[in-house]
Amino acid sequence: MTIGASAARSLLALAFFSCTAQLHAQVTPPDTLEQRLTACASCHGKRGEGLRANEYYPRIAGKPAGYLFNQLVNFRERRRQSPVMNHMVAYLSNDYLREIAQYYANLPATFPDAVTATPSPVLARGEALMTQGDPGRKIPACVACHGKALTGLNPAIPALIGLDAQYIAAQMGAWRNKTRRAQAPDCMADIASLLVPGDISAVAAYLAVQAPNTQSAAPLPAGSLKLPMECGGLDGR
Ligand code: HEC
Ligand code: HEC
Repeated sequence: MTIGASAARSLLALAFFSCTAQLHAQVTPPDTLEQRLTACASCHGKRGEGLRANEYYPRIAGKPAGYLFNQLVNFRERRRQSPVMNHMVAYLSNDYLREIAQYYANLPATFPDAVTATPSPVLARGEALMTQGDPGRKIPACVACHGKALTGLNPAIPALIGLDAQYIAAQMGAWRNKTRRAQAPDCMADIASLLVPGDISAVAAYLAVQAPNTQSAAPLPAGSLKLPMECGGLDGR
C-alpha cells in the first residue's frame, strides 16, 4: 500500500507544526496558572502566605476554596471594598475565580508564632466569647461555626487561628459599617453588630496567644458542624 500524496502532505505539515510548536515552547514561558498569579504574589506572598509591608496582606494559602471563591466574587461585586482587590478581579469570570481559589486552597497554610502573655481579664473575656459566646446578648460561640480548634469548616468558613489582630478589627469594623458584606443571610454582619469594641479586642488578643497545631490546621470536613445560625454562600459555589 502506498501513501497518498495528500496524506503525505498532511504528514509533512504535521511535522512542520510540531517543530514550530517546539521552537515556540522554547521561547515563550509556559502559560501556567501559577505564572499568571505572580501579580497576586507581590502582595500575598509567593505561596499565598500573606505579607506585612506598609499594609497587611492576609494569608490566602490553605483557606477553604469556597471561602476564597466567595471573597473574590464579593470583591468583584463590591460587597467587599478594597480598591486594589476590586480592581484585580473586576473582569474575571466565575470559572477563573474558582480555579484561582482552588489553587490557593491547595497550598499549605502557614501561621505566625503565637505570642506569650500572662492570663488577664481581657484574655479570659476573649476565650469566653470564642468558646461560649454571650448568651445574654445572643452572641453565639465562635467555635460553633469556626470549629473547636478555630481552623474553619469546609467549604466556606475560614479559620480564625493565626489572624492578625488589626485585620480582625478592620474586618469587624467593615461588617459593622457595611463595607464588607457576605451573601445573605450575612450571619457575620449580625454577629459583628452585636459585638462592642472591647469584645473585638478581647477576641483578637485571645487569638494572638493561640499556637496553631500545624499538624492539623486544615479546615473541618464539610457538614461536620451544626451551625447555630444560617449563613449565606456556604456551599461555596
Ligand atoms: C496591591 C496588593 C494586592 C494585590 C496585587 C492582590 N491583593 Fe488580594 N488583598 C489585598 C488586601 C490589602 C486585602 C485585604 C482587603 C481587606 O482588608 O478587606 C486582600 C484580600 C484578598 C482576599 C481575601 C482574603 C480573606 O481572608 O478574606 C483574597 C482571596 C485575595 N486578596 C486574593 C487575591 C488574588 C487571587 C490576587 C491576584 C489576582 C490578589 N489578591 C492580588 C491586596 C492585594
Ligand atoms: C453562624 C456561624 C458563625 C459564627 C457563630 C461565627 N462566624 Fe465568623 N464567619 C462565618 C462565616 C460564614 C464567615 C465567612 C463570611 C464571608 O464569606 O465573608 C466568617 C468569617 C469570619 C471572619 C473573617 C475572616 C477573614 O479571613 O477575613 C472573622 C474575623 C470572623 N468570622 C470572626 C468571628 C468571631 C470573632 C466569632 C465569634 C464572636 C464568629 N466569627 C462567629 C460564620 C460564623
